Amino acid sequence: MSTSDESITTIHPLRASLQGSTRVPGDKSISHRAVLFSAMAQGLSKVSGVLDSGDVQSSLAAIEQLGARVDLKKQPDGSLAGTIEGWGAAGPVQPGTPIDCGNSGTTARLLMGMLAPWDREVAITGDDSLCKRPMRRITAPLMKMGVRFVPEGADTLPLSLTGTRSLKSITYHAPMSSAQLKTAVLLAGVYAKGTTTVTEPSPSRNHTELMLPEYGIETTAVSGTASVKGPGVLKACDVAVPGDPSSAAFLACAAVLLPGSVLHIEGVSLNTARIGFVRTLEQMGATVSIRHTGAEGKEPFGTITASHTDVLRGCEIPAEKIATLVDEVPVLSLVAAFARGVTVFRGVEELRVKETDRLAAVTEGLGLLGVDAWIDGNDLFIEGQPGLRVPEGLVFDSHNDHRLAMTWALVGLTGNRPVQVANFDSVKISYPRFLQDIERLAK
Ligand code: S3P
Repeated sequence: MSTSDESITTIHPLRASLQGSTRVPGDKSISHRAVLFSAMAQGLSKVSGVLDSGDVQSSLAAIEQLGARVDLKKQPDGSLAGTIEGWGAAGPVQPGTPIDCGNSGTTARLLMGMLAPWDREVAITGDDSLCKRPMRRITAPLMKMGVRFVPEGADTLPLSLTGTRSLKSITYHAPMSSAQLKTAVLLAGVYAKGTTTVTEPSPSRNHTELMLPEYGIETTAVSGTASVKGPGVLKACDVAVPGDPSSAAFLACAAVLLPGSVLHIEGVSLNTARIGFVRTLEQMGATVSIRHTGAEGKEPFGTITASHTDVLRGCEIPAEKIATLVDEVPVLSLVAAFARGVTVFRGVEELRVKETDRLAAVTEGLGLLGVDAWIDGNDLFIEGQPGLRVPEGLVFDSHNDHRLAMTWALVGLTGNRPVQVANFDSVKISYPRFLQDIERLAK
């Protein structure tokens, strides 16, 4: 049972181990793309399994403001399904007010690419966290393609963008691996004459490259390089969204930490660009496995099984693998805190510019637990303590970051005493029913 007052939630230890089979809500990245690409498309797209969360609602509100017609209904399993009629060749309408992307970096950054081909002036803003996150990584390549931004050269929201009907295609060597950057440039590239190519230092998640051909766009992708050939217009299609591996990771890590647990998480995306956390858990010696059961379009899905593991060992994750588990570093850091030896995440500087500075937040939170965790250059080190006990009276700060809220909640849920989490409510961004789901599985 968990009790809460205004902004502090007390998370109590689960009453039993985690058992049985479950599903997790739709994948956040794929849901954003299903919604946003359908808005760009000509015709009526059918979408199902769409995540109903704060971030995806930001994308839905944005496309409605831009003239797409959204008719999605809540399903018995909590997902959204229905139709989206896009603006197609006519383009979006000129919105009368700024588009507020809330906490959603994906909405803000992908929108910039979507709006690039249209001569509308659109102001984009977001909440306090989003207004601190870097945007020059998107505005720089889009400016090369002909888009104007005001204030010119600004790195943060709020920003106004004016697109152009004569976009130039580019070959862009991205300075960091970012699926949002890659997607924004490729979406603009759909409307530019010729081939637009993005290369990245190591491959980021590839949902865009897998989904654009479903919308009729000629796309090529090999590890670390993706191209689209323009000009073209997306054509409506049907998309079914599989479960979110990033949400499944919290349940899987909880099962690994909680004695007696055996949990099967079904219908989860098993895209290799997303399940680096399974490989890391395996490397730590955890009992975890995957089984493919099907595919939605080109996205494979299946079951992740995770069981309690008594002896975990520290491991090293090389920089080129970080993109495959970038959103799971906080929860994997918590698992590493219980492992024998040191775990090293190499090249995790991108964590500094997520919903909050997740590197600082992880070392702060593990410090409260009495675990040595430190940053050296761009690497994160955690010295595990097998048999670690939770001290009394811990209050973790989620920093209004959904993934930190769930990470610190796991300390209370799988530990020996309750903990408190400030602003736990931020879980609504990606997994609104996280606590109810995990409590239901404790039997
Ligand atoms: C996302 C890409 C990742 C990830 C984010 C969602 C996406 O960020 O951290 O939660 O849907 O494209 P990057 O753009 O930094 O890869």
